[in-house]
Amino acid sequence: MADITALQQALSVSPDNVPILLMLGDAYMEQFSLAEARETYDRALQVEPSNPLAKTQIAQLLELDGRSSEAILRLEQLCSESPNHAPAWLLRCKLILGEGNADAARECYNKAIEIDPNLSDHELLKRVRDAGGVRGDSAKGSTGPIPQANADFQAGAFFDADYDGDGEDDDESGGFFGGGEDDSELELEFEQKTDVNFTRVGGMEGVKEDIRMKILYPMENKDLFEAYGKKAGGGVLLYGPPGCGKTLISRATAGEINAKFLSVGLHQILDMWIGKSEQKLHEIFELARRNAPSVLFFDEVDALAADRKDMRTSAGRTLINQFLAELDSESAKNDGVLVLGATNAPWHLDSAFLRPGRFDRLIFVPPPDEPARAEIIKIMADGKPVTGMDPAGLSKRVKDFSGADIKAMFDQAIEASLAEAMKSGKIVPVTQKQLAKSAKQVKPSTRKWFESAKNYALYANQSGFYDDVLDYLGIKK
Ligand SMILES: Nc1ncnc2c1ncn2[C@@H]1O[C@H](COP(=O)(O)OP(=O)(O)OP(=O)(O)O)[C@@H](O)[C@H]1O
Ligand SMILES: [Mg+2]
Repeated sequence: MADITALQQALSVSPDNVPILLMLGDAYMEQFSLAEARETYDRALQVEPSNPLAKTQIAQLLELDGRSSEAILRLEQLCSESPNHAPAWLLRCKLILGEGNADAARECYNKAIEIDPNLSDHELLKRVRDAGGVRGDSAKGSTGPIPQANADFQAGAFFDADYDGDGEDDDESGGFFGGGEDDSELELEFEQKTDVNFTRVGGMEGVKEDIRMKILYPMENKDLFEAYGKKAGGGVLLYGPPGCGKTLISRATAGEINAKFLSVGLHQILDMWIGKSEQKLHEIFELARRNAPSVLFFDEVDALAADRKDMRTSAGRTLINQFLAELDSESAKNDGVLVLGATNAPWHLDSAFLRPGRFDRLIFVPPPDEPARAEIIKIMADGKPVTGMDPAGLSKRVKDFSGADIKAMFDQAIEASLAEAMKSGKIVPVTQKQLAKSAKQVKPSTRKWFESAKNYALYANQSGFYDDVLDYLGIKK
């Protein structure tokens, strides 16, 4: 509020100041005063009719008002008149993704990142990919058909794809780390420093303690460990049902130790660097080593699942070997590089991964229990217009919810309030009642995972790897 008053005062002195108008518009947006925001951006456009920032924000407002098609049209126009305004491309990506056009969304994403790599948005990219958007061909400036090898991979048949050279030919990418022209497609997210730490992670006390004991403490007391002939190093594998905070806690671990965070989806390596994945993997490790102290996070480690018959090919095998060699604490110089992996299906991993010096510590990330859910609810409400919320009561209603499910509940409730706000032009806070209503509309997603996990824990529990799952299920070993 103070902000808005100050900005208004500044404007009364200099009413045509476009940067201040834009700031004021953004401040209105932040507190959902959409009508005021619109008016302010319009004022900016009166002074500077082609200002791309104001135009992008107006498109965003239209979208919030349910006028997506108009927003998309305006963005199309904006992208052709100001093709170097990255935020417009990014917003366009989001909106067309909402319309279900994943390939076009991907093109827009690539464009945005090409112009401004700082805009890279891992979550958005994941959504584009989940929607079926393949890599697009922006580097070659064409919108031609999708290369076959990639399409094959999307269908989950990458390793069955023939290796007669097609893969090599399709892969014209190169020099990702050397500032090559394909940099825009570098889908790695290297955060210089992350501001997420354990305080942004609700509950998960056991996991946090595990991470302290297995990671942070050994790192801080390296000499002590070495005195006992133990080397701090190797990797830690987090596993558990989807949406329960594996990625979040990994990022927070980097925050705890003030390290840089590099997140890599293994499918990206397979997908993008067909025929060159080993080399790229090596470069990624080198990048992390150069940036030590760093946390190198591999998501979807099961993409390397050699245990699955269909993946037992030479291409898969060499990549796995490369990965193991890079990971090996004996041979590789990973000082100051903490390797974390995450998977929903650890049982698909080759047991070679789990040997000492590799992913030799497994941490089970369970669904949040009741107090943890209340914590997560509080974290999610933080900074949002929420009133009369009873976290403990709500937590009881969302049994078996993952953190991601709780987020979905909030998203729904917020959308409902926003719709109300749009009608009245004023903030309509989210209420306990609305949250409880949204909770009913979200289906808890963790139970399903335990159905298959239980079988592996019971019948493929070599070395007691999955004892934690059995404990969680209350099954006696
Ligand atoms: N303990 C938590 N505290 C706060 N937020 C959480 C917590 N767990 C999950 N979330 C929320 O749920 C979202 C999904 O969590 P995250 O991506 O870390 O799950 P994941 O275990 O990595 O899932 P997947 O297996 O699908 O990759 C997070 O972005 C965050 O908003
Ligand atoms: Mg994850």
